[in-house]
Amino acid sequence: MRTESEHTIYLKDYAPTPYRIVSADLDFRIREEATRVRAQLTIEPRPGTEPGTPLVLDGDELKLDSIAMDGAPMVLSAYTSDANGLTLVEPPPRRFVLETEVTLKPEANTRLMGLYRSGGTWCTQCEPEGFRRITYYLDRPDILAPFKVRMTAPRSLAPILLANGNLLEQGDAGEDMHYAVWEDPFPKPAYLFALVAGDLGSITDSFTTMSGREIALAIYCAHGKEDECHYAMDSLKRSMAWDERRFGREYDLDVFNIVAVSDFNFGAMENKGLNIFNDRLVFAKPETATDANYHGIERVIAHEYFHNWTGNRITCRDWFQLCLKEGLTVYRDQEFTSDERSRPVQRIHDVQNLRTNQFPEDGGPLAHPPRPDNYREINNFYTTTVYEKGAEVVRMLATLLGEAGFRKGMDLYFERHDGEATTIEAFLKVFEDANGVDLAQFGIWYTQAGTPQVDVTDSYDAASQTYTLTLAQKVDPTPGQAEKQPLLIPVRFGLIGPNGSPMGWTGVSGGEVRDDLILFDRASVTLTFTGIASRPVPSLFRGFSAPVKVTSNLGQEQLLFLARHDSDPFNRWDALQTASTALIADAARGKDWSGTDIDALRQALLDTLDDPGLDPAFKAQAIAIPAATVVARHIGHDVDPDAVAAARKRLMTAMVGPVAERLEAKYRALSSSEPYSPDAGQAGRRSLRNGLLGLLVAGSDRGAPLATAQYTGAANMTDRYAAMAIAAHYWTGDAQAILGDFRTIHAGDPLVFDKWLTASAQAPDDRVVERMRAILAAPDFPRTNPNRLRSLLGPFVMSNMVQFARKDGAGFRFITEAVAEIDRVNPQVASRILTGFRILPILEPARRDKGREALAALRDREGLSRNVADILDRLLA
Ligand code: PHE
Ligand code: ZN
Repeated sequence: MRTESEHTIYLKDYAPTPYRIVSADLDFRIREEATRVRAQLTIEPRPGTEPGTPLVLDGDELKLDSIAMDGAPMVLSAYTSDANGLTLVEPPPRRFVLETEVTLKPEANTRLMGLYRSGGTWCTQCEPEGFRRITYYLDRPDILAPFKVRMTAPRSLAPILLANGNLLEQGDAGEDMHYAVWEDPFPKPAYLFALVAGDLGSITDSFTTMSGREIALAIYCAHGKEDECHYAMDSLKRSMAWDERRFGREYDLDVFNIVAVSDFNFGAMENKGLNIFNDRLVFAKPETATDANYHGIERVIAHEYFHNWTGNRITCRDWFQLCLKEGLTVYRDQEFTSDERSRPVQRIHDVQNLRTNQFPEDGGPLAHPPRPDNYREINNFYTTTVYEKGAEVVRMLATLLGEAGFRKGMDLYFERHDGEATTIEAFLKVFEDANGVDLAQFGIWYTQAGTPQVDVTDSYDAASQTYTLTLAQKVDPTPGQAEKQPLLIPVRFGLIGPNGSPMGWTGVSGGEVRDDLILFDRASVTLTFTGIASRPVPSLFRGFSAPVKVTSNLGQEQLLFLARHDSDPFNRWDALQTASTALIADAARGKDWSGTDIDALRQALLDTLDDPGLDPAFKAQAIAIPAATVVARHIGHDVDPDAVAAARKRLMTAMVGPVAERLEAKYRALSSSEPYSPDAGQAGRRSLRNGLLGLLVAGSDRGAPLATAQYTGAANMTDRYAAMAIAAHYWTGDAQAILGDFRTIHAGDPLVFDKWLTASAQAPDDRVVERMRAILAAPDFPRTNPNRLRSLLGPFVMSNMVQFARKDGAGFRFITEAVAEIDRVNPQVASRILTGFRILPILEPARRDKGREALAALRDREGLSRNVADILDRLLA
């Protein structure tokens, strides 16, 4: 039925519209039953447009009530309208005002795109194509216009009326009604439009910018939640100050408002002057939020704020350029967190995330470049590749150009493109122009999919005191891209001498090396270093200088040497991860480890733990045993998830067994009676303590009772949640009782309920699917709320490999059946969950077949959304 080309949109077909929108005046009359939207759009043909060229406006599920041109009703023959839009057959060849009226039913809008209601509040989500569900418009990012918004609503239901920009006036509108008028002087694309009307509480503050302007700040939320908004406000002020310091960027409106809502498809949205947030990324108090929640709030508040310059002042020409704003803004928020907290710990955190989420995407059926060149459904391209790999590409640019050169390019970007909708090419050009370099080859990172594989071999010749290092790069084919080109890969590196100190060299030949940076730009390169007195151990890709997979001839001994001596903390961490991944992978494939390997790895972990110079947060990352999904990826084919889980558990038992008592003592020594603070220091000590708890539970009998005791005695949610999650993950004797207890004591708080759902979905026992089915089927399960659905199903498909990829296919079927149901309510949530099936190609054939069967059954269903159909077709291709 569906054909390959159905609705595919290609980058190469980009063309500006024949008409542009000069300004948009919107009038919303909000009532309980329905909302009327009157739009007055001033429109003109672009120079060169043939007179008589039709004007095609986007619309989605809209019904036209009235239409007028320059104040006069239009005759029926002058336009056509259907579910997908409105066409003016022959608009005048001059500037004109088009006035349309539509009626919306926000109450019935469960897709949460356009105008909808969340907990009684009217709110909007327009990125990427939601504005067309509000009014007929040229709903694409290269149409920039100033907006003026008038809203009228019942005072009792919506005492708060907010929209983009600055408040012009507000007042009484008769009976119970009142109104407000907001004006946003900065021309913007429709995807940045927002409006909120509701009965909300708030906290307020102010920020004085570097030029001395005072900005009024407010965070709006459900009444009673005000106390939980302070960390978000603090994060906002720190973000505003940081963007001034680091990038010279000042805020531009008089007010900055944030609204927290409970029903939201993503994390948050950068609407101009009116950010709308999923409330899980605003609310925090020690009894209900974990350290990870605080960390996430800080990051996303910063991310959305930073979009004001990278996204809003300079936006995207078309949705293929999405990573222009997202990759760059993720890079900026990562930098912010690095400056506010610990740079190495943040780097490890971000790389762990990249390897767990982005590498699997890039190595499977859903692989695409950071800048794709075609799509069927743009909502399916808000991916970890666009965001996180996009950020890695920006980071490599900063590595290649140096901090000063990168800043020069950014300054030129803001100067040259402010007020524009632009492209990746224009972005690269500013760095070329500011630094006098050619970035043509570097640009391939944006257009080529797949994680490069770098193979490293080395040799040493004592007689000539030369050391040679050979690097070879390749990228496996990805869907639609069989041939791959060599990339410019920045390799930050050092050579380490036998005593653990850095080694210099007198000369290097065979490739381009600038200080500690190799510019690796060919399929393979052999570098020869001279003046090397003894065989060094190479430390490559320091700080993870490029998003690649590395295989090298380093053995465990050399890895553990790096873990002890590398001056680069990232590589110390990475060496331990590589060593333990290899051991687990070997055991999962039936090749058992030797006792000496285990002893050496254990000793390296203990030495790390005992090193007084290391940050506890770093130690926590260093002792973490790689997740089963990471090991599975390392194995790469014919994976048996049960074997991986068993091997991982066996490694932990072998590691922990002989030293359980010592680890327990360390665990106990880290307990603290300080009052809770979310700061990085305290959070780091908690994460180390909880990391030790994880090791003890997985690797010895001492752990399970400790977890139960920690759960019962916890003074904050971080410790309570960690104990529950660990108990569930390793399915201790008390796990079920702990889950049962948590459910009853925290029944009233939806965000805490989410934590219970997530922990429940981690259970590895054979009845987890049955229990999850029951949770979903419960009559009071909020099945239209994205947070609830994702908290339960997301972790199951993404990390509970043993049960999701069960031999009997019950895990797969559970998910496809759930997806079919969710699709009818919210296609975006449904398609996102379905992406978990990208794991199929690396599984052993029997499981892969079960997975494909479940997908095929889903594809046979009638009426699937384009979101789900697109993912399904790519998974089954
Ligand atoms: N642009 C938002 C962000 O980066 C993400 C988003 C996309 C939110 C689509 C809602 C809808 O942060
Ligand atoms: Zn973003």
